Amino acid sequence: MTKRFAVILAAGQGTRMKSKLYKVLHPVCGKPMVQHVVDQVSAVSVEKLVTIIGHGAEKVKSQLGNASEYALQEEQLGTAHAVIQAAPILEGEEGVTLVVCGDTPLITTETMEQLLKHHENTSAKATILTARAEDPTGYGRVVRGSEGNVEKIVEHKDANQSERLIQEINTGTYCFDNRFLFDSLKKVSNDNVQGEFYLPDVIEILKNQGEIVTAYQTSNFEETLGVNDRYALSQAEKIMQLRINKKHMLNGVTIVDSNNTYISTDAVIGQDTVVLPGTVITGNTDIAANCQIGPHTEINDCKIGERTIIRQSVAHNSNIGNDVNIGPFAHIRPDSMIHDEVKIGNFVEIKKAVFGHGSKASHLSYIGDAEVGADVNIGCGTITVNYDGKKKYLTKIEDGAFIGCNSNLIAPVTVGKGAYVAAGSTINQDVPGNALSIARARQVNKEDYADKFK
Ligand code: UD1
Ligand code: CA
Repeated sequence: MTKRFAVILAAGQGTRMKSKLYKVLHPVCGKPMVQHVVDQVSAVSVEKLVTIIGHGAEKVKSQLGNASEYALQEEQLGTAHAVIQAAPILEGEEGVTLVVCGDTPLITTETMEQLLKHHENTSAKATILTARAEDPTGYGRVVRGSEGNVEKIVEHKDANQSERLIQEINTGTYCFDNRFLFDSLKKVSNDNVQGEFYLPDVIEILKNQGEIVTAYQTSNFEETLGVNDRYALSQAEKIMQLRINKKHMLNGVTIVDSNNTYISTDAVIGQDTVVLPGTVITGNTDIAANCQIGPHTEINDCKIGERTIIRQSVAHNSNIGNDVNIGPFAHIRPDSMIHDEVKIGNFVEIKKAVFGHGSKASHLSYIGDAEVGADVNIGCGTITVNYDGKKKYLTKIEDGAFIGCNSNLIAPVTVGKGAYVAAGSTINQDVPGNALSIARARQVNKEDYADKFK
């Protein structure tokens, strides 16, 4: 089989984004554009993948890590000049080289496979992935001869009136015979409106040498969208959002309002889970089957078990078990571990806390830096007083303990197994197992005293 290589162009600043963040690092559904491209290209299985870096080189490198090799383009003199930077790694190789722009985040492995097949079947030296655009403004146009054969690509800025009417665009994804690519790159000039070395010029150069150049037109323009500004970024985000949602729906997840549900590329959701409107699921979240998430819920980097319900709440970087009921209006902060059958009710904030099996904090509590055992009941308004302004301290509440309403547990402190804390107590010493602890002022009733204030 012919060897396959890939070059991803990611050295541009992205002036039209008007941003301090380098273009290819702008996220689409939570993942940087260039990472989307690298992930899709990697699945094509290439021998070598080279990313051309320039603006933000270090940042792009640390994003992609060792998923790619790198070639530095110190000055951005155009897309042909960018590909030439990969010569030290690729020039001598025999095979097919796929070139993809780092700003086309919607391109899929399937489409690249089809492009490669077409290329191999036609024995072409170059094949352009093209698409028909309703509005081709800004894209390079594919100029075909009278027989319908590809002649060349003209950039929008260089195109004449009649060329601008062409709706078939260059998507910026190509495959080339590797040897012919690097030979013809040397012949590209920068004699054009932008004074840049254009990669698409390689097409005309090969054509004039009598080589076969072809185009593979995808019916899916959406997939080839190039992101040059924030408007296109929002379009890419929308297309990706609906694509991700559709994948989950076809896998058996109910998404009630796909337009108002935002799920990251890498999230996993089990069958028969229902996601309600206004829900944002980000990062590496993994939600099991038969859950109900939302409405209006934000979940980031969480692992959630089966049959769990989370309504109008926020959960970050935590582990949540099976049959847990959270919300409405709860906040699960990082490093929390919520075991099975726990109930976290309205206006409860949990931070870096373990909640044992079947425990409950149903209303208005702050439980931070805590280890809560199994079957513990935390009454309304309970607070773990974990911070003295300098350090954080641990509160332990052992199995079966009952914390009365409006208690303050001043950490470090332990409430033993099966103990009771009376409502309104401020606990600053350990409570032994099975004890009842009352720590509040005694009540005094002064008979008929109210008359004095009337
Ligand atoms: C390019 C194509 C155009 C095509 C469009 C598809 C050229 C000359 N034009 O135009 O035909 O329709 O993509 O989206 O290729 N880059 C570098 N180094 C450079 C210049 C660019 O690495 O010196 C990178 C950019 O970071 C970007 C990609 O190449 O990821 C494309 O560059 P961009 O300036 O966006 O090209 P377009 O004008 O969109
Ligand atoms: Ca572009």
